Amino acid sequence: MLKFKKLSKVYFSPSGTTEKIVNEVAKHFNLNRENYNLLSFDEEKTFTDELVIIGVPVFDGRIPKLVCKRLSKMKGTNTKAIVILNYGNISYGDALLELTELLKENNFQIIGVATTVSQHSHFSEIGHNRPDNDDLEKINEFSKKIVEKLENGIENEIFVSGYKPYQDYVKPSFSVSCDEDLCTECLDCAYTCPEDAIPMDSPTQTDRGLCTTCSTCINVCSEAARSFEGPEYNSQMRDAMINNFERKEAEFFL
Ligand SMILES: Cc1cc2nc3c(=O)[nH]c(=O)nc-3n(C[C@H](O)[C@H](O)[C@H](O)COP(=O)(O)O)c2cc1C
Repeated sequence: MLKFKKLSKVYFSPSGTTEKIVNEVAKHFNLNRENYNLLSFDEEKTFTDELVIIGVPVFDGRIPKLVCKRLSKMKGTNTKAIVILNYGNISYGDALLELTELLKENNFQIIGVATTVSQHSHFSEIGHNRPDNDDLEKINEFSKKIVEKLENGIENEIFVSGYKPYQDYVKPSFSVSCDEDLCTECLDCAYTCPEDAIPMDSPTQTDRGLCTTCSTCINVCSEAARSFEGPEYNSQMRDAMINNFERKEAEFFL
């Protein structure tokens, strides 16, 4: 019997795969749930008496800047946390060290870490349709081991790889395009964009200075009006596909 008052899920998931994995882990815990979706949640919060699952995707071998900012406002009280770092079959770079260090500094006690692989949100052929059944099976095995660890009261420090100073962010040379013939100006994209990069009075445009190409707008658009395209995009996609066709597997740290 686990002695937590509830399960809190904290995640940032512009194209939905990180959230899917967090939900898969959450299934193993019969606790009331609370969601903190970092696409919109931007408040101070202290977690007590609860188990927390934190899911974050990798952007440029780092954790997204916005996640870093919003997660910095979330504190634990030696609160037990399961960490999911999700990446698009290229590399997780320094993001794992960055995420775990941030959480430890904020007084979370990390009890398990998974680096999982999902379809790349820029280049859908990389990691296509992942997480697949194989991935989910491994994630479920990991979740069962965490339950056992908690039931047996096992506490140990978890060490992960990564280097400091962390690698630099590299902004992609492509941006999001909008097909004006398809766009109905419903404004779903403008309301959901976590960077406010889509002007309310001109939603077919994207402020390239603000846009991080996170892909939230593409995924929220019911008319499929938004996409990545253009020669720069096509050339980066070709390079990325050549260099990352080999399947990478999840890693687990317990
Ligand atoms: C701006 C940006 C940068 C990314 N950088 C990396 C990277 O460095 N390595 C990698 O393997 N995947 C990278 N990805 C892919 C995402 O980590 C991956 O698609 C993840 O599954 C997205 O999670 P989500 O579906 O929850 O949004 C990047 C995606 C974006 C949007």
